[in-house]
Amino acid sequence: MQESLLLQALKCKNQSRPPMWLMRQAGRYIPEYRKMREKYSLLEMFHSPELAAEVTLLPFKSFDFDASIIFSDILVIPEALNVGLSFKEDIGPVIERPLKTLADIEALPVFSAKDQLGYVAQAIKLVKPQLKVPLLGFSGAPFTLASYMIEGGSSKDLKKTKLWMLREPESFHTLLSKLTDCIIEYLKMQIDAGVQAVQIFDSWANHLGYSQFQEFSLKYMEKIIKQINVPVILFCRGSSVFAKDLANLSPSGISLDWNVDITTVRSYIPKSVAIQGNLDPDLLFAPKAMLIKETKKMLQGMKGDPGYIFNLGHGIKPDTPVDSVKTLVEVIRNSL
Ligand code: CP3
Repeated sequence: MQESLLLQALKCKNQSRPPMWLMRQAGRYIPEYRKMREKYSLLEMFHSPELAAEVTLLPFKSFDFDASIIFSDILVIPEALNVGLSFKEDIGPVIERPLKTLADIEALPVFSAKDQLGYVAQAIKLVKPQLKVPLLGFSGAPFTLASYMIEGGSSKDLKKTKLWMLREPESFHTLLSKLTDCIIEYLKMQIDAGVQAVQIFDSWANHLGYSQFQEFSLKYMEKIIKQINVPVILFCRGSSVFAKDLANLSPSGISLDWNVDITTVRSYIPKSVAIQGNLDPDLLFAPKAMLIKETKKMLQGMKGDPGYIFNLGHGIKPDTPVDSVKTLVEVIRNSL
């Protein structure tokens, strides 16, 4: 059987059209998903292997994506670490007991991916036989997970996190190291359950200065990559600044946010590292002609690149018109 376009591209050996998938492709822009959400809370859906498997497969009823990503959330690790997680309408994630001191870090319980997050492995095992395309696992990066656990939720400026990081770097490193160990164990569990590649989301790395990024993010991502034996894709917001450093870790691929010109980044990234991205997710709300024009422009710029994977520059937004997603898939499928 021929290897999938995604896995070929992750080896930088794809001779066909680029594979495509969308970050957050299993979520709220899909009407059937919104119907399910009327019945179940988000946490119920994450915790139930059957529901998570169903949501993972939902996008494939309408769109021919070339990869699937398991339906879960980066915040299941903090939840397992007992900081209390809920999702509030119009607010987003809320951590009930945010970390405030080193003592709080030291009091975090022992983590066991299999015991606490086994439901994710079960969801992966349910999805796998029903899929024709590769299944991706994922995790948040240590810095991004630490920020949620300190801020108590999403934050505009990560002020508490950065003040802690700058004033008490040692204890901040203690937290990052602990999270790194959890992430490695969690990703290995997903791989054992059947995912063929993983993506690490450092969604809040854009708040870091350049040398801070090296010390508080990159170092830990390197540690993770070294322990993982399937292709790893690194995503971070701020990739226009950090792309070269991410590529220097020799992951299989890097995923770019939408601010940066992808062809420029490609020109200084080793050909052995695949590149994923990076259409502005808001273009799916633009007039069709503009969406098509910008997508074709990106495809033309990356044409013939054996390590190119089409994606958005960040997650697809909740109220994105389904019809625009269909158009996007068609443009990419017809691009060779
Ligand atoms: O395709 C998929 O949907 C895969 C599953 C997935 C979810 N979250 C489900 C989800 C993935 C890969 C994530 C990653 C995630 N979660 C990130 C990293 C990626 C990124 O966007 O930067 C982050 C920062 C989170 C934390 C998180 N989860 C936030 C901030 C929110 C609320 C706001 C939002 O973006 O919707 C969530 C909730 C969440 N996770 C939803 C989904 C589908 C929304 C669900 C709903 O309200 O019904």
